[in-house]
Amino acid sequence: MSLTRIDVGGERPYQVVVGGGAAAELPYLLGQDARTVVVIHPVNLGGIAGPVVRVLREAGYLVHAEQIPDGEAAKDIAVAAGLWSRMAAHHVSRGDAIVGLGGGAATDLAGFVAATWLRGIRLVLMPTTLLAVVDAAVGGKTAVNIAEGKNLVGAFYPPAGVLADLACLASLPRAEYVSGLAEVIKAGFIADPVILELIEADPERAGQPGGPHERELIERAVRVKAAVVTADLREAGPREMLNYGHTLGHAIERAEGFRIRHGAAVAIGMVYAAAVARRAGRLDEATGWRHRAILAAAGLPTGYPAGAWPELREAMAVDKKSRASRLRLVVLDGLARPGILDDPPEDLLEQAYAEVSEPEGTVPPGLRSEGACDRATREGGAVKGEWGGGRGPEASRKAP
Ligand SMILES: NC(=O)c1ccc[n+]([C@@H]2O[C@H](COP(=O)([O-])OP(=O)(O)OC[C@H]3O[C@@H](n4cnc5c(N)ncnc54)[C@H](O)[C@@H]3O)[C@@H](O)[C@H]2O)c1
Repeated sequence: MSLTRIDVGGERPYQVVVGGGAAAELPYLLGQDARTVVVIHPVNLGGIAGPVVRVLREAGYLVHAEQIPDGEAAKDIAVAAGLWSRMAAHHVSRGDAIVGLGGGAATDLAGFVAATWLRGIRLVLMPTTLLAVVDAAVGGKTAVNIAEGKNLVGAFYPPAGVLADLACLASLPRAEYVSGLAEVIKAGFIADPVILELIEADPERAGQPGGPHERELIERAVRVKAAVVTADLREAGPREMLNYGHTLGHAIERAEGFRIRHGAAVAIGMVYAAAVARRAGRLDEATGWRHRAILAAAGLPTGYPAGAWPELREAMAVDKKSRASRLRLVVLDGLARPGILDDPPEDLLEQAYAEVSEPEGTVPPGLRSEGACDRATREGGAVKGEWGGGRGPEASRKAP
């Protein structure tokens, strides 16, 4: 299968390479000086990491495969510290390289370790979830979580390249895939409406790995992110547009103690942002309602309980997009025309939420993170029914 190369600019430009067999590009990306390569991957993705390790060994590298915990548990400073010790044991030097393989949690952690080991060594990312391909692995943000909040510690550290072999997505559970599709749909609304048309043509198949337009959808979404981050490498301006749907989305994630999948929360957040923009007279009715239709057709939630508003409003106030306690919402002035709504009136915010609020139980099964649910239950958090009686041990965390 042919490969598509999408440029990401900046001080250290790189390419996102999309297509089957992208892993064969690895040796070209590791640099002249690399002798030792550390492949960091979640414990459950050994089947995907194995062939990558073999390719590298055959190319003559000294390869160490390092397993990390699955999912969000990897983004922990203790996991990073364990890897630093392993890197020391392997005598990893400045010319050597890290390959970060897995979902967004693994690529965020591997990026953080690459940014910090010897003040920065070469990094190649191999994202294996839809969300990581179109979002987490593109743009150079790395992070770990601390008890006080998610993604609070990290660095901007662009990789030498991103290799997205779409064959990896075939084993992705449907709920993970659909969660990633929310970010693809976001790219459609803020920049590339063809994405919306392709999904609307067959939403059922767009929500499954291997759908007829999968590659085009992914490439379009990556191009949107690549263009935005190229224009704004350090989140000083246009990159804010990528937060479309994220202000309420982060508030929902926080209220749910991070037991809801990111894409599900962002989907509700986009429906909300569209309602706000319509009510503020900035977005036409048809585009506003199109949000609900396409997200629901793709299998994503579009509503959240009415009683949650006070808590969500408070969480929105501490979101990173509010400046000097004034709320800044990314809204649309039309299809593919994102803008900022600064300090919107309270009654408008609340009325828009009333549109979004629906009877309890609208998050489809699977769009909660089972791993985190299990953890919350083990630690004494209450997970009852579809909406979970809501509040687990992580509920007080901030979602920056
Ligand atoms: N750096 C950024 O700019 C950025 C942007 C968006 C999100 N993120 C981060 O990304 C993370 C979420 O990423 P995610 O949604 O990929 O979650 P994830 O990394 O937790 O992966 C989700 C699950 O899918 C499994 N998985 C991964 N690839 C698989 C495959 N090919 N087949 C079967 N299972 C597979 C993982 O093991 C995990 O259990 C969050 O930590 C978020 O903060 C970072």
